[in-house]
Amino acid sequence: MALDQAANPDTAIVAPEPATDLDTVVILDFGSQYSQLITRRVREAGVYCEMLPCDVPAERALALRPRGVILSGGPNSVYEPGAPQLPAWVIESGVPILGICYGMQLLAHALGGRVAASQHREYGPAQITVTAPEGERGIFTGLPDALDVWMSHGDRIEALPPDFAPIAVSANSPHAAMADAGRHRYGIQFHPEVAHTPRGKDLLRAFLYEVCDCAASWTPRNFIESALDQIREQVGATGRVLCGLSGGVDSSVAAALIHRAIGDRLTPVFVNNGLLREGEAETVQEVFGRNFGMPLVYADASGQFLEELAGIFDPEQKRRRIGETFVRVFEAHAAGAGPFEFLAQGTLYPDVIESATPKDSRVAHKIKTHHNVGGLPEDMTFKLIEPLRFLFKDEVRAVGRELGLPAEIVERQPFPGPGLAVRLLGAVTAEDLATLRRADAIVRHEIESAGLGGAIWQFFAVLLPVRTVGVMGDLRTYGQVCAIRAVTSEDAMTADWARIPYDVLGRMSNRIVNEVEGINRIVYDITSKPPGTIEWE
Ligand code: XMP
Repeated sequence: MALDQAANPDTAIVAPEPATDLDTVVILDFGSQYSQLITRRVREAGVYCEMLPCDVPAERALALRPRGVILSGGPNSVYEPGAPQLPAWVIESGVPILGICYGMQLLAHALGGRVAASQHREYGPAQITVTAPEGERGIFTGLPDALDVWMSHGDRIEALPPDFAPIAVSANSPHAAMADAGRHRYGIQFHPEVAHTPRGKDLLRAFLYEVCDCAASWTPRNFIESALDQIREQVGATGRVLCGLSGGVDSSVAAALIHRAIGDRLTPVFVNNGLLREGEAETVQEVFGRNFGMPLVYADASGQFLEELAGIFDPEQKRRRIGETFVRVFEAHAAGAGPFEFLAQGTLYPDVIESATPKDSRVAHKIKTHHNVGGLPEDMTFKLIEPLRFLFKDEVRAVGRELGLPAEIVERQPFPGPGLAVRLLGAVTAEDLATLRRADAIVRHEIESAGLGGAIWQFFAVLLPVRTVGVMGDLRTYGQVCAIRAVTSEDAMTADWARIPYDVLGRMSNRIVNEVEGINRIVYDITSKPPGTIEWE
């Protein structure tokens, strides 16, 4: 598998390649808001897949030896100038294809059919009738004739390409689904990946198992086996690895995996960057000591981080400085206790997708630079090992469980690498950090005490760089604003604000204004993701 860029083009990213021995499907992203959901659904069905931008070089996609290709939806019209087109390699490779919405229209357009704007834009729930004959059901194998589906399209297929036949109809379209069953090419106008298509998962399974003939080989155990082999191969018989351990799920699972592969040639380092929550440095060391059979190096670099962040307002610049300072701290350790050729990190697939730059893709937009993906200095000399680079969070948790890590590690709430710096808007100062830490401890304590912790993906306080007028004990105050953020989510790619009971919100608000000097106003963030992100920076 071709692995993509590190910040330094000479720095090879070393990651397991689960695809080398597991059946793999490629999802080509044409810009749909649902592309990542397709990726998740395929993985949930037990098949390894990777989402690649639609203009990915053919060699990179083919290096995965895909057993099938899924073409996502997208916001364009296939007949408009400049709209992304079907890459030639998809047809030339002869692999089974499933085109979803725009993906179906692309197939039709590329293979000689006709696509045009529809008189009736279909958006929302619809019913389709499957017309494929028994024995040739393909993607509808095992499904009933009448199906509730979710549509979202303005164009429609007016004429099917040669060799294609309609296999499902809807009230508005004689071509709700089409197939060239002999060549294993399918198109569907609706979205099987969304929850509003209740049997969508079964349709994707039928494509994976009946049409692509994939095995359900994407399991935590298989991932671990192939990851161990590859870590050993990449690190070699004598290589040594430094692993940045934050105490979070990702770096803990990465460390456990690498430790299993190479034993004490792994050195985990916990860096106190001064951007941690109340009590965190102590908790991480205590939990690590109880659960890992290896020593943890503790590096207090809080002064160095604060110096680097002094006067920096821009969120992207903050992230880059933090990423760079982490590497400098690791380099300093390596200089003293090295040599270490490799640096391991718990980077996840969503970090990789969200840090994708326009250089990688015309369709993926950069949201924010996750410090451990795009924020690394150009002159870094370590080779990176990122064994979780292709996993979603829930998959990392499953791998952690399979490795025997306890719930107190595997179920931990995510905490960003740049820590409180992305929750303290504007320039970071020691004083504001102390204020935020106290407010955050109250938020965490009240939510846990109310028994809500397990149901909420992340909950924390944010300190805003604005002041508002208030009154306390008959006196005017002019204090800071604290926002409370609490979201539910499955994988951090999308999120909703948590419906916390008013009395819990009230208690948090009361306690913060009373106990945290300098804060005189509390707001609750009721933005979902999208359009917001979970963190404020
Ligand atoms: P956003 O704010 O992008 O966050 O919706 C998605 C998830 O990622 C976490 N996050 C980070 N984790 N380094 C990390 O290790 C980062 O730079 C970073 N930024 C955000 C965030 O807490 C949420 O779980």
